[in-house]
Amino acid sequence: MRAQNGMSRRHLLGLAVAGGGLAMAGGVRAVCAQAFRRTPDQILGPFYPVVKPLDQDADLTTIAGKPGRAEGQVIHVMGRVLTVAGHPVPGARLEIWQANTHGRYTHPSDTNPAPLDPHFEGFAVLTTDAEGRYRFKTIKPGAYPAGPDRMRPPHIHFEVTGQSNRLVTQLYFAGEPLNDTDPFLQGVGPNKERLIVALGPPTPELEPDARVAVWDIVLEQG
Ligand SMILES: [Fe+2]
Repeated sequence: MRAQNGMSRRHLLGLAVAGGGLAMAGGVRAVCAQAFRRTPDQILGPFYPVVKPLDQDADLTTIAGKPGRAEGQVIHVMGRVLTVAGHPVPGARLEIWQANTHGRYTHPSDTNPAPLDPHFEGFAVLTTDAEGRYRFKTIKPGAYPAGPDRMRPPHIHFEVTGQSNRLVTQLYFAGEPLNDTDPFLQGVGPNKERLIVALGPPTPELEPDARVAVWDIVLEQG
């Protein structure tokens, strides 16, 4: 897979390892300063948490003060918030919400009979750093029913607020058969690929059974 800025995912991960995170050398940043396409919008959906949980940190796999870890595949999602000109957007606010591994939201409107996970809240608030970077640790969400005969593919909801722009979108995972029939993803058209990430192997400092997703988010002006 190639990232949307033309760099390979392996290259990005190499940078992440070398920098102890996502630090990028100035020269690489210069290479990245090129035209990007705005990330496509997606619906807010019915499960945006109107009442925000107290635990909003970047590790969604545990709840503060409660021993134990959420069930499911641990994933680390990381990337940058950029402008279409390729400039990083520092100080952007990201809200993230998602279903647990069983496909259930911690939301009073979710009627899915799949179990709640007492160790998973499914919500976080993040702020990009000076280089526009974000990252969080979570569980790969499960698919869930969106009607009597339709399942939504695994996805993570994002609301990204920069200095000028607000974007509401969803991130999907490569190789999910339900992607092919999801009206929200398919409705994007040819640009849908920019909402889909492949899960790759962990970098050495991460859990050996974790997976990594690298996804850049592009705002119009930042
Ligand atoms: Fe959803």
